[in-house]
Amino acid sequence: MADAPFREHVVLITGASRGIGEQLAYQLAEQGAWLALAARSSEALEAVAAACRTRGARALAVPTDLRDEAQCRHLVEHTVSEYGRLDMLINNAGMGFPRRFEALSDLSTIRAEIELNYLGTVYCTYYALPYLKRSRGRIVGVNSFGGLLGLPGTAGYNASKHAMRGFLNTLRTELHGSGVSVSITYLSAVRTARLQEVMGEQARKVPALDPARCASLILRQAARRRREQVLTLSGKTLVWLNGWAPALVERLLASTALISYRE
Ligand SMILES: NC(=O)c1ccc[n+]([C@@H]2O[C@H](COP(=O)([O-])OP(=O)(O)OC[C@H]3O[C@@H](n4cnc5c(N)ncnc54)[C@H](OP(=O)(O)O)[C@@H]3O)[C@@H](O)[C@H]2O)c1
Repeated sequence: MADAPFREHVVLITGASRGIGEQLAYQLAEQGAWLALAARSSEALEAVAAACRTRGARALAVPTDLRDEAQCRHLVEHTVSEYGRLDMLINNAGMGFPRRFEALSDLSTIRAEIELNYLGTVYCTYYALPYLKRSRGRIVGVNSFGGLLGLPGTAGYNASKHAMRGFLNTLRTELHGSGVSVSITYLSAVRTARLQEVMGEQARKVPALDPARCASLILRQAARRRREQVLTLSGKTLVWLNGWAPALVERLLASTALISYRE
């Protein structure tokens, strides 16, 4: 296959049971990658793994709760014991429970967002790193442009994505010269079932990227070992503008309810 940079690469994808992670799995399967797929729901995960096998890939479903360090360690070790190595870790799993900070009745959702989006990434990366150094492999972080800006209504989620960004950017510097690349993609809205769930009717009005297109852009960046990319022109524009005129962006975000969630 000419355009199959990940053929026979061992790739571990978190959050692979649906949404963007599922699309990443199918596109890698079509390239002939060897996959380890993680999420909590074993039935959905097994169905994705089976669909990957029909596309010619090897695929292993490893039910994992990424908030648990021991399960993340098992996930990585099980992957390596099955395939003998690891070439790429895609930290994709992530969840947000949008609500304005003052409207939270308690802080459990903030904890859940930090545990999955940030610590889940840290745990998997920690256990995967020795193997990735051996293969001069790739670490990928699926982030949000909330990881770069202060989008209202998502304080816990944004904080977890800011933390993930800081962690991966620091790791990239520490890994300089090791051959391991670290790529972060900052997404705007992507039309997954979860987007519909959190935004309700509003989801139809928001310009959103198709999950398959999003997955292909993440994989293209990883293949080229590019450091960071912000997806969609509107996301890029807002982030750029924030660098020059943060007060203006703050007013814009505060007043337009650019993204408003169901309360
Ligand atoms: N969709 C968007 O508009 C958008 C925008 C910006 C950024 N992003 C980011 O893109 C990534 C993927 O988003 P998505 O929309 O595809 O999400 P999604 O459809 O809700 O899928 C989330 C995935 O994460 C898994 N997951 C959730 N909690 C988990 C846990 N505790 N342990 C292990 N796996 C867990 C889910 O499976 P189980 O529930 O079975 O565990 C599922 O496979 C996330 O990092 C998200 O923050 C998405």
